[in-house]
Amino acid sequence: MDSSFIMEEAPGTEPERQLAFIHAMREIVRVRCDELGRPLTCRIHTFGCQMNARDSEKLLGILEQMGYQPTEDDDADFVLYNTCTVRDNANQKVYGHLGSVKSRKRKHPDMIVALCGCMMQEPEVVERIRKSYSFVDIVFGTHNIYRLAELLYRRMTGSEQMVIDIWDKARDIVEELPVERKYAFKSGVNIMFGCDNFCSYCIVPYVRGRECSRRPEDILSEIRRLAADGVIEVMLLGQNVNSYGKNLDISIDFATLLREVDQIEGIRRIRFMTSHPKDLSDDLIRAMQDCAKVCRHLHLPLQSGSSQVLKRMNRRYTKEQYLDLVEKLRRELPGISLTTDIIVGFPGETEEDFQETLDVVRKVRYDSAFTFIYSKRTGTPAAAMEDQVPDDVIQDRFNRLLDEIRQISAEVCGRDEGTVQEVLVENVNDHQEGYLTGRLSNNLLVHFPGDSSLVGNIVSVSLTKSMGFYYMGELAGAPIAP
Ligand code: SAH
Ligand code: SF4
Ligand code: F3S
Repeated sequence: MDSSFIMEEAPGTEPERQLAFIHAMREIVRVRCDELGRPLTCRIHTFGCQMNARDSEKLLGILEQMGYQPTEDDDADFVLYNTCTVRDNANQKVYGHLGSVKSRKRKHPDMIVALCGCMMQEPEVVERIRKSYSFVDIVFGTHNIYRLAELLYRRMTGSEQMVIDIWDKARDIVEELPVERKYAFKSGVNIMFGCDNFCSYCIVPYVRGRECSRRPEDILSEIRRLAADGVIEVMLLGQNVNSYGKNLDISIDFATLLREVDQIEGIRRIRFMTSHPKDLSDDLIRAMQDCAKVCRHLHLPLQSGSSQVLKRMNRRYTKEQYLDLVEKLRRELPGISLTTDIIVGFPGETEEDFQETLDVVRKVRYDSAFTFIYSKRTGTPAAAMEDQVPDDVIQDRFNRLLDEIRQISAEVCGRDEGTVQEVLVENVNDHQEGYLTGRLSNNLLVHFPGDSSLVGNIVSVSLTKSMGFYYMGELAGAPIAP
């Protein structure tokens, strides 16, 4: 590497330091493009939840600033896997990909392969990568994604074959770095990082670190900037948004934050994820009643309907408390759509426990539910519990739960058939020519004939036919002005 690219001294403060590395990398990328006579390309594979999706937008923002062009091609010059480890199958998918990357890199030796995200916070994973996947160039974790430019610079200008940089905890929240959004009109916004709940099955607190809220003024100014840039829907993101503000030195809670976001001009829809039932306050319900922009949808993970199982899961609510909360939500926010997450086969789950879960499903009548087979995660308390449930028993319960959920949600989701609803047009339908796909306030999708110029607008759509989990519709007027 030409020594003119070697930075004399990088600034010690952020974000100045990363901006300096982005600047230096831009030069390196430019020279390489000139040599090749084509642009350098990048490809990010994202696994896992909305947090990772948002992190990938930040990573892509940095890559674009360095001069990389995004592509869908796996033969890109820079390939990054942003990993998830919440269940073992998420892990296995990454190893599957790495197998094929190896042969691609043989044909394309200048390719840079990077791994980041939750899996990389597990020391055994990093050890396995180091030993068995020596073609990987860069490994980093969840706490230092903002350092991508610095790590890439280190790999490209230094002598290390594999740059590994994993932090065991967050050091600082770095604001004001570039972000490249997937959608022009909607965006996730982190309001907090990490999780302190330690549900006994869950690895997230270990890989994402301690709960830490962003300052409200940083969140609000980010949303104002997004609104100025054409965003009309924001999704406030945190593992447990209902405990927002707890670690801040000022007094603020999620309900107050929501009211402030509701005031921001240009924003027309507000969603949030995830709400832990144990922390859902009456103030939040009142804020949802008062704030017209807050969508009529709540994702309220149940995990299990059995109070005994919930206790061993360390969820800190009982079946009765959950059902009471649902009753209150339905009373105070009529028509609200509820969705959930359920785990089947937690250690020691009996048929009676499972029946309690079915009972809650039948009583709540969710719009939809994500169902997961319990996956043993190394280092979590549940992994050491006795009475792990046999696979065939879990599979049988899982199938029965799925049948129940499907039947209920087909009935519930059709309740707005024949009405006209406001819909945010999200994209042109890939499967049906001349059709658009939009989202209702309650998060369901509707497909209807229309012109691509409507993407990013809120329009009135008549829901002509319920198809179980989505609707078919017809446009019922011009775009609705803010
Ligand atoms: N913070 C969110 C969930 C994040 S993980 C919450 O508390 O709701 C998303 C979902 O993955 C969880 O709700 C849970 O249903 C599921 N999950 C987490 N760990 C799991 C495990 N070990 N096995 C199976 N499912 C799991
Ligand atoms: Fe995991 Fe529980 Fe935290 Fe959700 S609240 S991320 S399930 S530990
Ligand atoms: Fe997976 Fe990490 Fe999200 S483990 S679910 S990507 S916080």
